[in-house]
Amino acid sequence: MQPVEIKKNIFWVGAVDWDIREFHGYSIPSGTTYNAFLIRDEKIALADTVKACYSQELLGRIKQLVDPEKIDYLIVNHVEMDHSGALPEIVDIVKPEKILCSANGKKAMIAHFHREDWPYEVVANGQEISLGEKTVRFIETKMLHWPDSMFSYIVEDKLLISQDAFGQHWATSERFDDQVDQSKLMYEAAKYYANILMLYSPLVRKLLENIKAMGLEVDMIAPDHGLIWRSNVGGIIEAWDRWSKGITTNKALVVYDTMWHSTEAMAHAVADGLSAEGVCVKVMSLQSSHRSDVVTELLDAKAMVLGSPTLNNGILPQMADLLCYVKGLRPTGKIGAAFGSYGWGGESIKLLTVALEEMKFQMADSGLRVNYVPTADDLAACTELGRKVAAAMNSASDQVNS
Ligand code: FEO
Repeated sequence: MQPVEIKKNIFWVGAVDWDIREFHGYSIPSGTTYNAFLIRDEKIALADTVKACYSQELLGRIKQLVDPEKIDYLIVNHVEMDHSGALPEIVDIVKPEKILCSANGKKAMIAHFHREDWPYEVVANGQEISLGEKTVRFIETKMLHWPDSMFSYIVEDKLLISQDAFGQHWATSERFDDQVDQSKLMYEAAKYYANILMLYSPLVRKLLENIKAMGLEVDMIAPDHGLIWRSNVGGIIEAWDRWSKGITTNKALVVYDTMWHSTEAMAHAVADGLSAEGVCVKVMSLQSSHRSDVVTELLDAKAMVLGSPTLNNGILPQMADLLCYVKGLRPTGKIGAAFGSYGWGGESIKLLTVALEEMKFQMADSGLRVNYVPTADDLAACTELGRKVAAAMNSASDQVNS
């Protein structure tokens, strides 16, 4: 694949990872890209690198444009290994005059690569450097995604190189947002936000407000993953605004695991009750739905009802996995309820209820349990539970993160 000029004398030189399917717990069936950008000016700069195993691809693309030894500055917007893994090799070849990074970036690079001798130059929030015709302004974005994270804004081109922010995990031969299917693009952007950024929503709010307050004119956003936004910059910023505010739709999830189909039958009856009240319902069995797909649906859902039978005085392992994952992502403003089948102890319903309460879900019910196999009356009670959740959804107003 050739380098791609995204702005005059600014080139995508990254790598496409067609094969990766898992990203620390997040299922990425469409692969991903590691985007890096070469800026050719009086001073030549490389913004970000790639995962270590793609260093030769990166170098191959750079060599089509410049001799790598002629690169003056390396800009490290984010130290996570998917963007810095190739750095030691690149530093050895390029022998840069400066490695521009945040204060936390310098600390993180030393902790990763144990190289105190590299020519780090720490840049402050708002600081600018001139490359000749182009100016790079650095914008601190601590915790989006790591403490070291920053953006590089190319002033004359109105180009925001946004490292993880505004990304999507999607391997494509195309480089720009207008070259791909729009619904798939927005789905992947939402999945990325839900699985990586949801817990940082208060910081995203502040970042979007800061960008507005700075009067930053942006006509292209180049994230370090996925497609570059050139046609729908407003659309992705509006989506991040909506997601970070926790704005929900009239949607509920019924997520369950089952042993002998009893909890499954209960799940379908709960869904019937929700649906009868006009709620859009997604029923997700954890035997066929990955945790990261549940979280993607949860992003704009108003309610999540969980079902698990009792196993060994606890819940089924797939449900424990989901709870661990969701807890870390800290969804806000959701309504919850729990249900399940049991044989003798019946602890799972209480455990699910407590887990949802600890995540600050507003509980619509104290929990519904059914001994062994549900009767017609039991299923009617499940449908009624669905109706109760729908009523709680109707009376709850959207929570907006401040
Ligand atoms: Fe794509 Fe936080 O690394």
